[in-house]
Amino acid sequence: MFNPSAITVPVPHSLIDAPPIPDTWKHQHLLGLQHLTASEITLILDFAEHLHAATGNGRIKLDLLKGRTLANLFFENSTRTRNSFSLAAKRLGADTVEFSSSGSSVAKGETFIDTAKTIEAMLVDVVVVRHSSPGTPHMLAKHLACSVINAGDGPHEHPTQGLLDILTIRQHRGSLAGLTVAMVGDIAHSRTARSNIWGLLKLGAKVIVCGPATLVSKNWEKLGVEVSYSLDKILPRCDVLNLLRIQFERQAIRPFPSVHEYTLLYAMTQERIRRSKPDILIMAPGPINRGVELTPEVADGPHSVILEQVTNGIAIRMATLWLLLGRRG
Ligand code: CP
Repeated sequence: MFNPSAITVPVPHSLIDAPPIPDTWKHQHLLGLQHLTASEITLILDFAEHLHAATGNGRIKLDLLKGRTLANLFFENSTRTRNSFSLAAKRLGADTVEFSSSGSSVAKGETFIDTAKTIEAMLVDVVVVRHSSPGTPHMLAKHLACSVINAGDGPHEHPTQGLLDILTIRQHRGSLAGLTVAMVGDIAHSRTARSNIWGLLKLGAKVIVCGPATLVSKNWEKLGVEVSYSLDKILPRCDVLNLLRIQFERQAIRPFPSVHEYTLLYAMTQERIRRSKPDILIMAPGPINRGVELTPEVADGPHSVILEQVTNGIAIRMATLWLLLGRRG
């Protein structure tokens, strides 16, 4: 006799592995960390851990976002961010479109908005945009119906970089609360610094920004961070150093007499490691310039978590995509 209850219906893979999105998550876009709450940031970090494990540490492809499409819209160079957004989308089963301004119809005079709308008309669900002008993703979010993720808008914000940095620290220390994290180098031009500062402060870390006075204004104190011009003075207090690249391409004039002088005062060397806490974490958002912000021995040494940051980037971007797209029919 036919017994419907005896039929086992296979549970879709997506239902097994999808972390449920709480009703409190209301965001359509990820434009920065400034306006996220501590619990929203923690949710993204937790989802990143969950999805990293659900994809077998990145070896298994899920179908959570099957039928969705991500477009990478990059008007500046990228190695880490662009490729990890592509991989994150593919690991969740989405399709990807890759756009670079070079070789596109932008060279024929098409405007930025028309270009973005053209890409969106290819039935894209999320646009990941990198541009040298601060506020570009915010403008796109007003013009497009799809989700927008800021992959770096000039020196303003780079939210997924801030999140992956914070996740890396949390994995090593368990919690951000009470840690002292120093961002060292070109603070003035760093979107990574801004996103880290918003996220770290909300999760209870103390933040120091350190570098030459030409690259670190006293005004940073208004955000609730300590300003220092001496790496050697702050070194013994730091649990984490995040070494920022000197962004010569964003500087009208050179902010110090020579790279050699910068290196003497601010580069992380083996000798400075010996004067640090024994478990100090050395981070860098990359690209790294060996011999400028850190020596090769430090970049490749036991305190460095620079490549772990890259791996965590995929997990953070999977979590972001799931939160922005997972609830849409
Ligand atoms: N950290 C970072 O944004 O690297 P890319 O410029 O390579 O994306």
